[in-house]
Amino acid sequence: MESQDNQETKVQRKYPHRIDDNVAIWTEFRELGDRYSCLSLGEGAPGGNPPDFLKDFMIKAIDEGYNQYQRIFGIPEFVNKIADVYGEKLKRQINPMTEIMVTAGANSALNSYIIGLINPREGEEVLVFEPCFPQYQDHIQMAEGVYKAVPLEWKENRWTFDPEVLRKSLNDKTKIFLLNNAHNPTGKLFNREDLQILTDILNEFPHVIVISDDVYEFLTFDDQQSSILFASIGNNFEKTVSIFSGGKLFQATGWKVGWSIAPNEILSKAAIIQCCTTYCINAPAQIAMSRSFDLIETMPYTEGRTFVQNMKKEFQDVRDFFISQFNSISQELPVVPLPSESGYFLMIDITNCKKIIPERYLKSHDFEELKEGQSAVSRNIVYMPDGSVPLDLAFCRWMAVEKGVIMMPASLFYHKESPIRDDKYVRIGICKGLDHSRKAFDRIKGKQKMD
Ligand SMILES: Cc1ncc(COP(=O)(O)O)c(C=O)c1O
Repeated sequence: MESQDNQETKVQRKYPHRIDDNVAIWTEFRELGDRYSCLSLGEGAPGGNPPDFLKDFMIKAIDEGYNQYQRIFGIPEFVNKIADVYGEKLKRQINPMTEIMVTAGANSALNSYIIGLINPREGEEVLVFEPCFPQYQDHIQMAEGVYKAVPLEWKENRWTFDPEVLRKSLNDKTKIFLLNNAHNPTGKLFNREDLQILTDILNEFPHVIVISDDVYEFLTFDDQQSSILFASIGNNFEKTVSIFSGGKLFQATGWKVGWSIAPNEILSKAAIIQCCTTYCINAPAQIAMSRSFDLIETMPYTEGRTFVQNMKKEFQDVRDFFISQFNSISQELPVVPLPSESGYFLMIDITNCKKIIPERYLKSHDFEELKEGQSAVSRNIVYMPDGSVPLDLAFCRWMAVEKGVIMMPASLFYHKESPIRDDKYVRIGICKGLDHSRKAFDRIKGKQKMD
């Protein structure tokens, strides 16, 4: 029979906390987007489509009969292909049957590993760099682990971390160090030197498992090769889970296919969770991705560029467009764009906009001028430690309501009680294509709100 204690704990458990504590930021901005007919530079969903060959392979796989349950951890054809491709990047032989788990997108991999590895209510800590992908917080809370953060700071023209602060944040209770390279939301690429520093520090804490969220690994700018995988350095493989996203790689985020590579001892902990949750993953999409892998890196796709080379160019063009355009209107809108080295986003520093953001966005969460009978959108009611509405949230609401453009306040990429939370940055998506970005920028400049 269960003890009373246990029963009480079960009753008290409420998920997801964003719904009972607060409104998810995506909900507020989606509602604002609908109400004010906005163009989005917010969410990380690409404006482009997957390559035609991927779609053709998907249809063919359906015709071939890949329509029923499959091997839970990935169809052999797919895991064999993943083992080949990432074996080269990780400079080792990967066992496709024991060291790879295909997942319902990277997000479900993160969830399975964090829940599988954390012993709930034991005070086990997960250390991340902040700002970070907000879903990390939810996975950690769901696993009943303790979220802990180390700041990434913009200094001397790049996002940096203080190795001493990192070292001091690690301890006997640290179970997981969660790295994201290339990094959302900053666009930082952890270079070899950064990764070596991390490796050396983590070697002092050999009980710590590293989850390396490598979903933007292939998407680097300025002729840089793909990011260096943390697991490829020294003996890191032995303690590392590397997580990838087919959605990001093939520009098919709605297909929700990802994969993880880890030593079997670690992988088996997450496998238990996956068995209970998603079980096996979208079968025809696995076959389509498996058959498209070689083509995206080798076959000329557009103007002699491969699909991946083309994606890098398109994202980089948008990044450069925003940087030059924001700089060109810095008198009217005093934001400072920060160069992004990789991924779906760049950050702008909006510190100097405080004086031009209309008062009603700064002073309260009741910022809408409501028409009769209209109720306010769902709002994320958060304050900075001094009681003010976060500057970046005020800026983004202003942009949505008055300019018709959605951007993401970066303070929401920190834990709401984080002592290092910063409200001077806004995240801009560079994944929507140049045409869309031009239209959005016309609105930001104030040329017109409605297209
Ligand atoms: C850093 C990071 N990790 C994971 C994910 C989730 O990837 P997927 O769509 O494959 O679940 C995202 C999506 O935006 C992301 O930015």
